Amino acid sequence: MRVSRRSSVDPFIVMDVMEAARQAEAAGRHIIHMEVGQPGTGAPKAAASALADAMGRESLGYTVALGLPALRARIARLYGEWYDVDLDPQRVIITPGSSGGFILAFTALFDTGDRVGIGAPGYPSYRQILRALDLCPVDIATAPENRFQPVASDLEGRDLAGLMVASPANPTGTMLDKAALGSLIDAAAGQGASFISDEIYHGIEYEAKAVTALQVTDEAYVINSFSKYFSMTGWRVGWLVVPEDHVRVIERIAQNMFICAPHASQIAALAAMDAEDELQANMDVYRANRKLMLEGLPEAGFTKIAPPDGAFYVYADVSEMTDDSRAFAAEILEQAGVAVTPGLDFDPLRGHQTLRFSYARSTADIAEGLARLKAFMQAR
Ligand SMILES: Cc1ncc(COP(=O)(O)O)c(C=O)c1O
Repeated sequence: MRVSRRSSVDPFIVMDVMEAARQAEAAGRHIIHMEVGQPGTGAPKAAASALADAMGRESLGYTVALGLPALRARIARLYGEWYDVDLDPQRVIITPGSSGGFILAFTALFDTGDRVGIGAPGYPSYRQILRALDLCPVDIATAPENRFQPVASDLEGRDLAGLMVASPANPTGTMLDKAALGSLIDAAAGQGASFISDEIYHGIEYEAKAVTALQVTDEAYVINSFSKYFSMTGWRVGWLVVPEDHVRVIERIAQNMFICAPHASQIAALAAMDAEDELQANMDVYRANRKLMLEGLPEAGFTKIAPPDGAFYVYADVSEMTDDSRAFAAEILEQAGVAVTPGLDFDPLRGHQTLRFSYARSTADIAEGLARLKAFMQAR
């Protein structure tokens, strides 16, 4: 049977690393996981108990397409708490993870062949989802001196219908401050490009609070999720904030594409939002891990790193060690027993000379991983 041209998207290389790590574990080896982009912790306890209560009480059928009104209202309140932004709950739409949010956003905003700018390095699925929707991803090669974030001048002459940014970003953890975000929003508006802000790592920030696009403008799509700060990757629940006149557009697409985000997950997510103590305890772990990474990676020889403002990743330039990051990652897995992600996932052009290290797991794992990396590099 024939397959469509647009279905020929690239695999997610980190999944191949995870599979290689799994095979090593199945063969009896102990592997430290610095490849995975997810918290080692589960959902907050309050989320699980709210769901257990609801299961005894409700049938958990479909919700309305836009999501549980109580959850939309609670998310709107979060914008007041985190950013002092007064947000109308009607503009909040619950999605099946932020991944579902991308599909809704790209479908609502763009037509076949439209050019959408994405930063490189960046989260790989932006490119692949755009391609699968017959849209044209435009890689914007970001510079280390701009902390791997696009700047307004990068947009000149690009003829973009959209611009997607992430702050804090994956794989670098770097953030855009309000001025930088504002100038990108202006530059995008200047060429009639819709602005999409991936804010999935908000809440996981170390030095300064992340800025939401909604502090700058209402004319943007904001994408967020319960996967990272709220530690609920597998629950598949996230949200979009869209301009008021786009709510009905998204609602119609969501009704047809997804019907709704999982009802059970929406109930759990609502309870998770008040589990501040537990979530802050997770943050304490990330903070300790980040400190270990920023000391330990240079000691091991990975000196070209940009200190992350948020998220739980360090992106390292390993050009002095390899120009084949995939083979290098395989060597590290084989010899050091540490799984890391080759940069090619994030930057098809320059990623053969970079690696991403995740520090989302326990502090004991991070300490052990760093010790192994150090020994590996000394023996090399
Ligand atoms: C920047 C970024 N956006 C979006 C996602 C997708 O997250 P989810 O669909 O679980 O909300 C990820 C996952 O790692 C990510 O790193």
